[in-house]
Amino acid sequence: MDRPSGVADLVATLRGGGYLADRGLATAVFVALSLDRPLLLEGEPGVGKTEIAKVLAAVLGRRLIRLQCYEGIDTAQALYEWDHARQLLQVRALAEGGETSVKALFGPEFLLERPLLAAVRAGGRAVLLVDEIDRADDEFEAFLLELLSDFQITVPEVGTIAAASPPLVVLTSNRTRELHDALKRRCLYHWIDYPDVEREVEIVLLRQPGVDAALARTVVGAVHRLRELDLAKPPGVAETVDWARTLSFLGEPALTVDAADLTLGSVLKEREDLELARENLDEITSGA
Ligand SMILES: Nc1ncnc2c1ncn2[C@@H]1O[C@H](COP(=O)(O)OP(=O)(O)OP(=O)(O)O)[C@@H](O)[C@H]1O
Ligand SMILES: [Mg+2]
Repeated sequence: MDRPSGVADLVATLRGGGYLADRGLATAVFVALSLDRPLLLEGEPGVGKTEIAKVLAAVLGRRLIRLQCYEGIDTAQALYEWDHARQLLQVRALAEGGETSVKALFGPEFLLERPLLAAVRAGGRAVLLVDEIDRADDEFEAFLLELLSDFQITVPEVGTIAAASPPLVVLTSNRTRELHDALKRRCLYHWIDYPDVEREVEIVLLRQPGVDAALARTVVGAVHRLRELDLAKPPGVAETVDWARTLSFLGEPALTVDAADLTLGSVLKEREDLELARENLDEITSGA
């Protein structure tokens, strides 16, 4: 698909790619695509922020270019680096047979392309995923803001490289820190909430078609009750899918207290969270 004709079309296409978007999210994506605006997605861990960018690339037939942010990330890792090893080899080869100019060593063929340069070059044929932007520091955010505004990169030795058309940009954040207003202003914003029970059951069945619908329903019910506890790391949708898959794989027909106790490691990954859940297992599995 090149471009979806509308929100409903996009919802259907995403579903075909294994992603279930509600109308709010699909509308945000549709507008981002149609108006060439970056889309900033925030939400709890495991609610499908990263996944939607991957699925979008797949269903739109675009290349996914992912920039994983982390503390201390800088332009060399995000944009480009000079390929020093190749430059050195070139110097050696030429020293034997002739002369070289320094200028010739700083041509485009000696540029090591990093995700942002790749995205500028690919333009509208790419989905650029800037994942976990909140982990990068302030300066990097400012630099990114500049890039998002005109989609061109100036390499002093080479010149300006501009995108023919902007890629679809999806930024994600877990809100470990507030992002700057300037960045937010450039983007469309959407908060992805945990899905309601019905939708989460649908997601489980979409991702794991082999899982029994009744089992999926009880697992989702239990996860929703887990999310109400005071957990350090509440389970995301990924964990729900995992839990259903684990139980199904083990041939457990229902989520009994015993089955839940044995498989709780699929959903909770902190010792304290496991303890708290085990104290409340009766209640958590009560809908089963
Ligand atoms: N709406 C959805 N439709 C289909 N699958 C989903 C959906 N939401 C979540 N998932 C499933 O949950 C998994 C985790 O989602 P993802 O990695 O995108 O979460 P995230 O929000 O990026 O989490 P984190 O903040 O930890 O990076 C996906 O691989 C997918 O299997
Ligand atoms: Mg993610």
